[in-house]
Amino acid sequence: MEVKLQVLVILAMALSLFSAASATSGLAVYYPPEYYPAACAGFNLTNSGVMIAGVRDELWDNGGACGRTLRVRCTGPANDFPKPCEDGDITVKVVDYCRQPCNGVINLSQDAFARIANLDAGKVWVDYS
Ligand SMILES: *[C@@H]1O[C@H](CO)[C@@H](O)[C@H](O)[C@H]1NC(C)=O
Ligand SMILES: *[C@@H]1O[C@H](CO)[C@@H](O)[C@H](O)[C@H]1NC(C)=O
Repeated sequence: MEVKLQVLVILAMALSLFSAASATSGLAVYYPPEYYPAACAGFNLTNSGVMIAGVRDELWDNGGACGRTLRVRCTGPANDFPKPCEDGDITVKVVDYCRQPCNGVINLSQDAFARIANLDAGKVWVDYS
């Protein structure tokens, strides 16, 4: 009984470590509408909506990122703005390329950013996977 419980606890810890490790940390910024036309051809407001993002080279994958989804969660302030994060995560579809100088790894739509953080913060640290 006792041993079984310990195994379960260890297993649960290992699983939570694994899921934490599979997310990557980076800076997210945002841009206001109009969101389209976007760099990904064939993606528009009708078929992709406003929960969207542009990504920088390391995620862009030469355009292979178009249509992929990212799960994004705010983890903390990236400037002097105190407590910018809202609870919970969002799922966004990649429809755009964030050209250099892109101030973040992920350039969220204003609609998406507003769900996870205070817009006045401008940029925040996020975990994404
Ligand atoms: C959106 O894209 C779809 C498929 O690519 C296309 O059929 C549709 O006409 C487009 N809608 C607008 C408003 O551009
Ligand atoms: C975010 O993307 C928009 C639209 O592509 C672009 O105009 C803007 O410069 C980008 N913002 C940053 C900080 O890179």
